[in-house]
Amino acid sequence: IKKYGYQPCVNIGTAGHVDHGKTTLIQALTGSWTSVHSQELKRGITIRVGYSDAAFYKCKKCEDPLGYSTTPKCNNCGKESELSRVVSFVDSPGHESLMANMLSGSALMDGALLLVAANEKVPKPQTKEHLLALQTLGIQQIVVLQNKVDLLSYQEALDNYKEITNFVKGSYAAKAPVIPISAQSGLNIDALIGAIESTIKTPDRDEKADTVMHVLRSFDVNKPGIKLKDIKGGVIGGSLTQGVFNIGDEIEIKPGIMNEKKKTYEPLLTEITSLGTAAGIVESVKPGGLVAIGTKLDPSMTRSDSFIGSVIGKPGTLPDNSTLLKLDVNLFDSAVGATEDIKVQPISSGELLRLNIGTAPVLGTVKKIKSKSVEIELRRPACIFEGGNVAISRRISERWRLIGAGIVG
Ligand code: GTP
Ligand code: MG
Ligand code: MG
Repeated sequence: IKKYGYQPCVNIGTAGHVDHGKTTLIQALTGSWTSVHSQELKRGITIRVGYSDAAFYKCKKCEDPLGYSTTPKCNNCGKESELSRVVSFVDSPGHESLMANMLSGSALMDGALLLVAANEKVPKPQTKEHLLALQTLGIQQIVVLQNKVDLLSYQEALDNYKEITNFVKGSYAAKAPVIPISAQSGLNIDALIGAIESTIKTPDRDEKADTVMHVLRSFDVNKPGIKLKDIKGGVIGGSLTQGVFNIGDEIEIKPGIMNEKKKTYEPLLTEITSLGTAAGIVESVKPGGLVAIGTKLDPSMTRSDSFIGSVIGKPGTLPDNSTLLKLDVNLFDSAVGATEDIKVQPISSGELLRLNIGTAPVLGTVKKIKSKSVEIELRRPACIFEGGNVAISRRISERWRLIGAGIVG
């Protein structure tokens, strides 16, 4: 963790087709490459949702957007800049088979950067599918990036720019700024930061409400061969959407873990032993960017993101675990994630769907349908908040495709 002195206050996501440059851009902004798992390195694609933090600075003397940078020294005039905001980035995988991971990350995004590679025809399938995903989850604050402009002539770049503005017409991104960049050569990054600062606002959040944290990752931070007395408890990463956590707080994790004897999920109770953010090791955390909490859990339990999709709160404050999901459903006209768009057929009784509830992907079977209201029996319990957005996917020719959105009723 780099130390910026402040907890990040906002989560900014990436979206866009595979290889369009999302992780390269996050590296340009944060200095770190977020796809570090062995399979990611081998295949050259992002698989798990990545995250990293950055601080944005603004020079008081230089005109917009020249004075924006990620260092306290102005790139334009060399004088000292002021801190604008500390932000977290949630880096999505673009591969079509990884939509579930993209949707998990999207549950935490306050705004998003939609990257479109300038050297390809617009739009590619996941450019469309990711934009729909953002729309499904109500992410309205979007900056569109025309990436890889270093590969094009000026005229080609202008033509491609027109294709992009045509594509976003009628979508959430219709009014979004479109910024030409080269993530690889760090071109126009100041304009990009300026666009983020004026487009993606820090949401108002209720620090006095019951604490709710959505989990995106979990780890075992102990190196192999560590001495027993030095072992650290399980670490869980994610974002608070409301409330605060302090070191020493008792917490409850839902849905928890499977009790093999009783064949049910049981919430876990533990205690916060440490808290980390981009501000460093801290005493308390509030809603906003990414936080990591150390617990007294056996670290083998939290290994390899096993807690993704969990919700954490103070004991007795979270909704009960439930396997019944009632949704008010809005289906898209077509599923867009493949080369060809496919008309979306109505949901039918008995069919299997994939639901992204918060950061949790869960399978479920449709039990009842009454016009737009659908009841689904989940295969495992989830902690479900009324009024929450749920992304609905269906298996169409061997792939899970996003087909619509639901609101928990
Ligand atoms: P996924 O996470 O797998 O969806 O890919 P991604 O969108 O994160 O793309 P990534 O950052 O891994 O970049 C893909 C390839 O594009 C890499 O070889 C990058 O070096 C290259 N690339 C990224 N940005 C630029 C750019 O601005 N110009 C050029 N020429 N290449 C770029
Ligand atoms: Mg990537
Ligand atoms: Mg790649």
